[in-house]
Amino acid sequence: MTRIAVLGAGKIGESLLSGLLDAGRSPQDLMFTERYPQRAAELAKKYDIEHVDVIGALQRADVVVIAVKPQDIEPLLDEMAPELPPGKLVVSMCAGLPTALFERRLPAGTAVVRVMPNTPMLVGEAMSAISGGSHAQDSDLDLVEELLGSVGKVVRLPESQQDAVTALSGSGPAYFFYLVEAMIDAGILLGIPRATAAELIVQSAVGAAAMLREGGGHPVMLREAVTSPAGTTIAGIRELEKHGVRAALIDAIEAARDRSVELGRQHEAG
Ligand SMILES: NC(=O)c1ccc[n+]([C@@H]2O[C@H](COP(=O)([O-])OP(=O)(O)OC[C@H]3O[C@@H](n4cnc5c(N)ncnc54)[C@H](OP(=O)(O)O)[C@@H]3O)[C@@H](O)[C@H]2O)c1
Repeated sequence: MTRIAVLGAGKIGESLLSGLLDAGRSPQDLMFTERYPQRAAELAKKYDIEHVDVIGALQRADVVVIAVKPQDIEPLLDEMAPELPPGKLVVSMCAGLPTALFERRLPAGTAVVRVMPNTPMLVGEAMSAISGGSHAQDSDLDLVEELLGSVGKVVRLPESQQDAVTALSGSGPAYFFYLVEAMIDAGILLGIPRATAAELIVQSAVGAAAMLREGGGHPVMLREAVTSPAGTTIAGIRELEKHGVRAALIDAIEAARDRSVELGRQHEAG
């Protein structure tokens, strides 16, 4: 079996470990590193997975998944560079960090796969986009696709599209949360208690998402189906159009893409 080490068992790292176990991976094939001894002990007990140090992880695992915050990457790469044995696959979950950074800092020829996941990984519903670096083979991408398939969906894209992905599916959940928040506020305005408004809106969001995904319908057709002539929905849609909500969403996603490009540039030099 492929042995997998997760470096940095925070929110994303823990979700991945939990998903891999749920998918039937043996705890013996998984290990993790973590800075805080107390959290490390809690995780080791909860999942029956071994807590190791970085050098132990690099020696024993076949796949090394980096799930630390991008700002913590430099000291970790300093620690990894002299110790990474040949033939290991490095998978980075770090938002905005190009594969070229890892290739520059790690031993020559290291295979790197970059992943942009999103927070629904916490509930096994991630959308992950993966891109191979210059030494990654199709078999490496196949393996990463299989691993991430246990915590959601996976698409393969050229690395040049990772900034767009960051804006769409990386930040996407935040935009849905924002819409839900606004719709709950509307419920309050209309005199519905907050808890009831939240239940009405959250279940509507879940139902709409299920129709989009499982019903296979186009969003326009699904919306038209609830927009009857002279009805209530069209009255609301007119206001959304009047306030430029469609254009605002397009602009928001473009701005997020631009910010991702800007953040990535900080790691280009050096
Ligand atoms: N959460 C998201 O929405 C999301 C979406 C897409 C991509 N990502 C990416 O996923 C990665 C993880 O994000 P997260 O939200 O899971 O962050 P997080 O909860 O802060 O987890 C990172 C973990 O790594 C630990 N860590 C840092 N340096 C370490 C080292 N040298 N050795 C061992 N452990 C170390 C941190 O410990 P401390 O607690 O001591 O700092 C923390 O427990 C990030 O690179 C992020 O860009 C996150």
